[in-house]
Amino acid sequence: MQRFASSTRDVPPAPSIPRHVAIIMDGNGRWAKKRLLPRVAGHHRGLETVRVMVRACLERGIEYLTLFAFSSENWRRPQDEVSLLMQLFVRALKEEVKKLDRNGVRLRVIGDLSRFEPDLQALIEASEQRTAANNRLVLTIAANYGGRWDILQALRRMLLNNPGYSGDWSETDLAPHLAMNYAPEPDLFIRTGGEQRISNFLLWQLAYSELYFTEVLWPEFDSAALDMALTSYRQRERRFGRTSEQLAAGALPPGPPTGSRIDA
Ligand code: IPE
Ligand code: IPE
Ligand code: MG
Repeated sequence: MQRFASSTRDVPPAPSIPRHVAIIMDGNGRWAKKRLLPRVAGHHRGLETVRVMVRACLERGIEYLTLFAFSSENWRRPQDEVSLLMQLFVRALKEEVKKLDRNGVRLRVIGDLSRFEPDLQALIEASEQRTAANNRLVLTIAANYGGRWDILQALRRMLLNNPGYSGDWSETDLAPHLAMNYAPEPDLFIRTGGEQRISNFLLWQLAYSELYFTEVLWPEFDSAALDMALTSYRQRERRFGRTSEQLAAGALPPGPPTGSRIDA
């Protein structure tokens, strides 16, 4: 498996167009409420924005787009809304996969999928398989995903893979077991809908991502709004712990602190 730079162990590249954009798609309910529509109407419109974003990322050469669709805490919503969201997920998979495949998009779904109906699990698997050879854009949908769940499942698998080993774990032992082991850490995180929190999204992977919050509700987020986020991103100085002066001088970072194991 390819090993990606870790923002805490290496100084990763900081490309001017982010390789990986991760988005919390928030504000569907408020968009609908403003129009006196049921919340689910907002989710339908939100799906349209997903289509727009996939196209926009393909056009801009972004390689990884990760979308938070359903958190491990969203089961707490009213039963009706949860089942409508599941139906929408099934329908979207059935209707969109052909088009994704045609456009060279690889689909991946991360999260605790065991809680989904067997039909939905099978559909996810078939969709991932159908698009597995594509490499223009990796579209990851986080569904029943929680950052804490991810760290715990990775820890469990790390321990199972190394029975008997008791000492000196390093992050390079854990990272390959995280759900998004196939992607570099997000360069840019966007949350629409005005809230400024992570809501248990990619806790590990966002360590050095640039954070961008916008009031725009997800159903109204469009490629111009994405470009504003990309402009803001380009103006950031990604120091990864160094000083501006070091950055300007192109200084190579000193090695890791003594005691950190290097095994990769
Ligand atoms: C985000 O929109 C979609 C999901 C969480 C599934 P919300 O449904 O959270 O919309 P608001 O935050 O209530 O406006
Ligand atoms: C976060 O949105 C989860 C998704 C967008 C899927 P929420 O609307 O559920 O987040 P909170 O509850 O406002 O933090
Ligand atoms: Mg919300």
